[in-house]
Amino acid sequence: MSSISYLNGAFLPVNEARISPLDRGFIFGDGIYEVIPVYGGKLFRLDEHLKRLDDNLAAVRIKQPLSNKAWKSVLNEVVARNRPMHGDEQSIYLQITRGVAERDHGFPNSHIEPTLFIMSSTLKPLAASIAEQGVAAITHADIRWRNCHIKSTSLLGNILLRQQAYDEDAVEAILIRDDEVTEGAASNLFALIDDVLITPPKGPLLLPGITRDLILELAQQHNIPACEAFITPQQLINAEEIWLTSSTKEILPVTTLDGTVVGSGKPGKLWQQMNQHYQAYKQQLRNR
Ligand code: PDD
Repeated sequence: MSSISYLNGAFLPVNEARISPLDRGFIFGDGIYEVIPVYGGKLFRLDEHLKRLDDNLAAVRIKQPLSNKAWKSVLNEVVARNRPMHGDEQSIYLQITRGVAERDHGFPNSHIEPTLFIMSSTLKPLAASIAEQGVAAITHADIRWRNCHIKSTSLLGNILLRQQAYDEDAVEAILIRDDEVTEGAASNLFALIDDVLITPPKGPLLLPGITRDLILELAQQHNIPACEAFITPQQLINAEEIWLTSSTKEILPVTTLDGTVVGSGKPGKLWQQMNQHYQAYKQQLRNR
């Protein structure tokens, strides 16, 4: 059985989907993407993902190919068609590129249609060891460009940074720019400092994560002191807890940073509390 994808209006097995080598996504990484988890067959924070997609397409001047209503219908169709293979918990990847044109860095002069691709994969449950032991992270200079708020498919910087973490037996690289901690190579960052949960403010140096926003919302709902503020590398080293958040990894408790123990060396109390709220939120979506 093959996973069913969507390419420019047609549903077809992913291994039969074909794009032109002249697609600007292939040639330049000239595109925008989203990753949306699915719980109980329902797309997680769909309006928020579609809003970010809209903002990102506008930022790079790619025409929005679908209305919100059409997006919802096609995404739900991809989820439904993949249920026999992936079940009710899926990870949906969507990508829009500027389209097919002769290679030239500038935008094509004549009108071209964006390429729209969607695929589904199984959403893997997080390893039980994460709640018991947490994960290791490294710090690294942020070698990426200065438009990190754009969810661009040009990810070479992020790829090299994530690989550096793997090479050092860690799961993520936490990035530092101009003496500020920004985010992970594919995740946002939270630190518990003096009993306040802190995450760096939105801006061009980090992706406005959907999971990040939800965690701030949950903190507010449950009276957990939280704020958006700059974090220095020194503050990070001394943090009581460090978390990394993303749609696919949820909330990862970091228990070693550059080989040094973070806090108690175990996933912290606040992580346990927030993770329960997060799991409850997912369960509500499943039951809806
Ligand atoms: N990445 N920052 C970066 C650089 C990211 O690539 C991601 C997500 C996040 C977290 O955003 P969200 O909570 O909306 O998933 C932050 C996805 C999962 C990926 O590239 O696969």
